[in-house]
Amino acid sequence: MKAADLVDSSFGTIGRRIFWDPAIYELELERVFARSWLFVAHESQIEEPGAFVTTYMAQDSVIVARADDGAINVFLNSCPHRGNRVCFADSGKGRAFTCNYHGWAFGLDGALKKMPKMGLYKSTPGFRMEDWGLRRARVASYKGLVFATFCEEAPSLEQWLGDFRWYLDAVLDVEDGGTEFLPGGATRSVMRCNWKFPADNFVGDIYHALWTHLGGAEPTLGRHGGVIVENEGSYQVSVNGHGWEFNDSFFGNAATMGDRELLRYMRSRQEAITARLGDFRSKMWGSVASATIFPNFSFLPGYFTFRTFQPKGPTTTEIHAWTLVPKNMPDDIKDRFRRGSMRTFSPSGILEMDDGENWEHSTSANAGWVTRNQKLCYAMAPAGEVERDDLPGEVTAGQLSDANQRLFYKRWAEMMDAESWADIPTAGSDARYSEAAE
Ligand code: FES
Ligand code: FE
Repeated sequence: MKAADLVDSSFGTIGRRIFWDPAIYELELERVFARSWLFVAHESQIEEPGAFVTTYMAQDSVIVARADDGAINVFLNSCPHRGNRVCFADSGKGRAFTCNYHGWAFGLDGALKKMPKMGLYKSTPGFRMEDWGLRRARVASYKGLVFATFCEEAPSLEQWLGDFRWYLDAVLDVEDGGTEFLPGGATRSVMRCNWKFPADNFVGDIYHALWTHLGGAEPTLGRHGGVIVENEGSYQVSVNGHGWEFNDSFFGNAATMGDRELLRYMRSRQEAITARLGDFRSKMWGSVASATIFPNFSFLPGYFTFRTFQPKGPTTTEIHAWTLVPKNMPDDIKDRFRRGSMRTFSPSGILEMDDGENWEHSTSANAGWVTRNQKLCYAMAPAGEVERDDLPGEVTAGQLSDANQRLFYKRWAEMMDAESWADIPTAGSDARYSEAAE
């Protein structure tokens, strides 16, 4: 069966099979995750030589380390000797990674440096130290975000992100000094759901906020300041399956719930950000919005929560979440964002739990044989054409639409069905994002 047969992206029906079938999940690991550029770290997490974090690229455990020359290396966290996990820490600083089992030691670039009884190997005909390092990935950064892929055929990160970079600057380039993840590490939680439910929720499902988040929003924002979403003055944009839905009101966002200081601060920044990025993107910084960088890296602009949805099987997803802020933001404002994102989108946050419950039940309902063979509806149409065709990417008017989700699954199906990267159409090689008019 072809993935494209399960995804009717023109009308908007999706076969439920893609959310439960173990065979499809296995193919996703091979054809989607192992061929994509995946987010692995923010540069601020590993500023010093020797600093490292461990994370996952799908189910592959990897080490992300800063070498003495400043380069960032990403390599498998599994020893080529007998396969043992090499590093057990979430983060730290060191000179080498030494395997617990027989003591093989690897450098900050993953190269095999030494092992006990090294002479026995060196005298073995055909054995070469350089053949037995930790398998290295290709690594590239975009304005602080570090991505990696083990796929040699994949296009460059620039092409992969394409014109989406123009929009990403609305969170990554709002002032000199760049951004950082607030120190203290990630929150991690496990949800019994397929990874695509949260990824598709963030790529374009503001629709759910009107209902799911009402109970959390009203007590904090008040009955009339709750979840306001209209198609008037709002948009969805999609590039290569990445998507962002937003509106043009500079409203503030969930981290500002009940915190007027945060809202005041965001409004005080609006003029400077407009001067830097133009009116359109300045609104993206602080509007009710959400985004996914295909396949599983999502964020909420304005809430500044950034998260990966790490697949752990067809019905299990591990969420790793951080708070991203401009580096030069005052410390007390950073701390308010920290508390705001913990209060809303953390394992104990008032909004995240509402989402998680929905995604878990959307997944577990597929235990029924009849249920699992039904289709799901992604037919909500865009509100209208966008008058500004100078904006990069596929832009549709109206936040309340399944347009981005349809394009997310179109991309997913293209990758699932393609034998090689040559068969995966990729826009953005001639990125015009830098020329887009304001
Ligand atoms: Fe790592 Fe043997 S498994 S040194
Ligand atoms: Fe939500």
